[in-house]
Amino acid sequence: MDFWLKDCKIVPENIEISICIEDGKIRSFKKIAPRRAEIMNMKGSVILPGLIDAHVHLRDPGLTYKEDFRTGTSAAVVGGFTTILDMPNTIPPTNTRRAFLEKLKIARKKSLIDFGFHAGVDNTIHIKKINDLRPVSFKVYMDLVEEDFLTDIFKSISKIDDDKPLISLHCEDKKLIKNYTEKEKRKGRFNPEIYANARPPLTEATAVSNALSLARDYGLNIHICHVSTKESINLIKKAKKSNINVTSEITPHHLLLNLSYLKKCGNFAKTNPPLRDNENKIDMSYLSNIDIIGTDHAPHTVTEKEKNIWDAPPGIPNLETTLPLLLTEINRHNMTFTDLKRLICENPAKIFNLKNKGFIKEGKDADIVIVNMKKEGLINPDDFKSKAKYSPFKGFKTKGMPIMTMVRGEIVMEEGEILKNQGKFVYD
Ligand code: NCD
Ligand code: ZN
Repeated sequence: MDFWLKDCKIVPENIEISICIEDGKIRSFKKIAPRRAEIMNMKGSVILPGLIDAHVHLRDPGLTYKEDFRTGTSAAVVGGFTTILDMPNTIPPTNTRRAFLEKLKIARKKSLIDFGFHAGVDNTIHIKKINDLRPVSFKVYMDLVEEDFLTDIFKSISKIDDDKPLISLHCEDKKLIKNYTEKEKRKGRFNPEIYANARPPLTEATAVSNALSLARDYGLNIHICHVSTKESINLIKKAKKSNINVTSEITPHHLLLNLSYLKKCGNFAKTNPPLRDNENKIDMSYLSNIDIIGTDHAPHTVTEKEKNIWDAPPGIPNLETTLPLLLTEINRHNMTFTDLKRLICENPAKIFNLKNKGFIKEGKDADIVIVNMKKEGLINPDDFKSKAKYSPFKGFKTKGMPIMTMVRGEIVMEEGEILKNQGKFVYD
């Protein structure tokens, strides 16, 4: 069955076209939709490729009191995302074939949108076996693993015969964090902004440099998650010039918030790496040097967040705030639709090899978000579909809102209402 989306505004070109969708794919484009076919009139609304979030923590299995595949993908679809790539720090962690298959089963049942998984590594003997199941990458937390083990991981992955998988890295140096944290804790203070002193920019720069050296030495592709400082971006820029295969990701909070929010919002703004002061933080002028925006949607309960600064878990839920916040920046002329599409649709599809995603082009999946650029809103965590009802963006005024999300031609969100759908593994 085919149908037409009539009079969609394509950006940045600002032209109106009609799109034919058949069997969940984009079939063709026409200036004027044919009369008799089934038609939905978009009346000149802006359309974007469905957003791809390469960095989410949906907490399923094992931590479903924080989030699960249904609530997490409900939040995603309200926020205009049609594909998510889930992180491995669930219980059990996605470190083995068995855990990967278990997560696949859960997601096939509960996910409203399409999904892929990053695999974790706790023992290199599992790498080859789990790689056959096609994780989008192997994720390594440099704040948690020893240097020798990190080297072992690169070594093992470099020995895989066929296509070598991507390595995603959380770049904060374990040893430095330990030293700085002990020093801060000795002071016996509990005001939230001291958390940033426990993981200063140097901890990130050190880990980024190590990761880049390993990528060079082993000839592997790496993706650096949630880069938070100008210095890290500059290191990555230099590495790219010397032909190291590296891509970078930033989060909406590291882009739009500074250290003062840790003071203002307390643990609701606590995340790893921490928010940075204006001198160190990335700003809009750095966008052209960044490859993707990932939300690092990392939900926790409000009760957990109410613990003291050292005991409260790090993480911010972002699936529902990211697109309205970025559309607001476009309305303010701080970024462009070209940036948005590149950072959160096209590049995630390229980096993680999602062949049918990321572009509104003939033959691609009909993953589409329709946005109303004039619709105003106020960020209110009580309205979140996510189980994590807090946000450092609480009270932010937005202009520009996703009003419809379509996954492979099925409407899954309309005006904030969620409809049934069955998400699919991205490589099936
Ligand atoms: C992540 C989480 O909650 O899973 N939190 C975060 O602050 N980014 C874990 C992590 O990446 O450290
Ligand atoms: Zn994360």
